[in-house]
Amino acid sequence: MSGIPRIKINNHETFFYQYEFSLLDAMEAQRITAPYSCRGGYCGCCKARLLDGEVEYVQDSLVDLADDEILTCCCIPKTHIEVELPQE
Ligand code: FES
Repeated sequence: MSGIPRIKINNHETFFYQYEFSLLDAMEAQRITAPYSCRGGYCGCCKARLLDGEVEYVQDSLVDLADDEILTCCCIPKTHIEVELPQE
């Protein structure tokens, strides 16, 4: 893929990935409130659904995930992505 990955959250906020450590950090840099706790891949609090695109893991996920689930503290976008955060 060419270009910087574009991240779309909850079919609403869209922004470009700016090489933050993780998708969670990228959302926080945009002041998007996303759930988290451990930031280390073991609590599962940051679980979200990947609706479109691909991510790459930068730290190990120790949580069981369904095929369309990701841990935002552990991955970064590899392509343009569309993510759905759990509703509060
Ligand atoms: S914040 Fe705990 S697994 Fe991501």
